[in-house]
Amino acid sequence: MGLLKPKGTRIGADIAGVVESVGKNVTQFKAGDEIYADLASCGGGGFAEYVTVPESYLAFKPANLSFEESAAVPMAAVTALQGLSDKGKIQAGQKVLINGASGGVGTYAVQLAKHFRAKVTAVCSTRNVEMVRSLGADHVIDYTQKNFTEGDEKYDLILGVNGYHPLSAYKRSLTPEGKYVMAGGTPKQIFSAVFFWKHHVN
Ligand SMILES: NC(=O)c1ccc[n+]([C@@H]2O[C@H](COP(=O)([O-])OP(=O)(O)OC[C@H]3O[C@@H](n4cnc5c(N)ncnc54)[C@H](OP(=O)(O)O)[C@@H]3O)[C@@H](O)[C@H]2O)c1
Repeated sequence: MGLLKPKGTRIGADIAGVVESVGKNVTQFKAGDEIYADLASCGGGGFAEYVTVPESYLAFKPANLSFEESAAVPMAAVTALQGLSDKGKIQAGQKVLINGASGGVGTYAVQLAKHFRAKVTAVCSTRNVEMVRSLGADHVIDYTQKNFTEGDEKYDLILGVNGYHPLSAYKRSLTPEGKYVMAGGTPKQIFSAVFFWKHHVN
């Protein structure tokens, strides 16, 4: 991101590792602690071997996950959680559709939506149908065979991990009080959402 060139030049967001040393004001962590974090909003640098991180960005790595598994969690899983819970206000029993269910955000979203006891419809391509079903989706739509926005089914919440359909098409598939949450999208869709639809931006 940036007008003429990228503002941030330190690439990499998700990390998992061991605390090497701590500053004098750090209270929650000590050298040797196993942690994981998403550094996207504190300057990045996740691809480096060593990074300096404000302690508020760190969490203890779950003991039952490897460093590799832990490093795959922070940004994608939190994006899915924010989309479903913070923004989507997901409720048990709701009909929830995840468009892009087989990707980084979508695979977490399917599992989290089931955790919130929603009825989950997942949309992905043919090669991923069985994998997404194994994550717990109640229904799986193969987007190469069927366009769900042209069907009669209505959903209380749609999490779109990209701008695969115009907003008007998503709206057709929502119940009157339904919500569409966009986790990523084309500039055209983001512009349209901000200027032409009732929205909350974060
Ligand atoms: N990953 C993150 O940490 C993160 C965080 C914040 C925001 N985002 C944003 O969220 C968006 C998705 O990221 P991601 O990491 O989840 O991407 P990804 O891993 O590449 O997943 C993309 C998903 O979209 C599906 N897809 C592709 N073409 C489609 C179509 N025509 N109709 C419906 N689904 C289609 C893919 O299904 P198949 O593979 O089955 O074709 C896959 O499930 C991006 O805009 C990204 O910038 C990602």
